[in-house]
Amino acid sequence: MKIEFTLNGIHRVIESAPTEPAWPHLAEEGAREGRCRGGNCLRCAVLLGDRPVPSCILPVYRLQGAHVTTLVGMGENPLFLDIMRAFDKVGISRCEDALPGLVMLAYQIISEKSIPSDMDIQDYSRYLVTRCAGRDEFERAVRLAGRLQGRRKADRRERVSR
Ligand code: FES
Repeated sequence: MKIEFTLNGIHRVIESAPTEPAWPHLAEEGAREGRCRGGNCLRCAVLLGDRPVPSCILPVYRLQGAHVTTLVGMGENPLFLDIMRAFDKVGISRCEDALPGLVMLAYQIISEKSIPSDMDIQDYSRYLVTRCAGRDEFERAVRLAGRLQGRRKADRRERVSR
């Protein structure tokens, strides 16, 4: 099957059996394979549109027409930078095993809820399992990143209205 998609902003065309896992086709742009290969550890997480998904269990046909972003591709994205600032401030380690899943979940929460409530954060992260960051730390970091993002948007509005 011929599949066309965008990976970190670059148009890609691949040939693959439709139900093969997507991960090998995303690896050169930084998607990492984790140990579980079952959708649990989120080391292999990528954004499919705005949603984090484990690429080890994502069938390749789901890439058709999609915009896929790996951690590498988030590079200068302002929300990504706010999330990384918040993670550093709270003391969440940059552990390779946990970072993709944590960052992409934080990205989804703030993208969908703007300034998320405690309930929102708890709701989105209820299945989050990681040894590298406590749930409390993660929740604090998401709240902080949401505030940083909100402040940046307010500054931008103020500049535009002048
Ligand atoms: S390898 Fe663990 S979720 Fe993909």
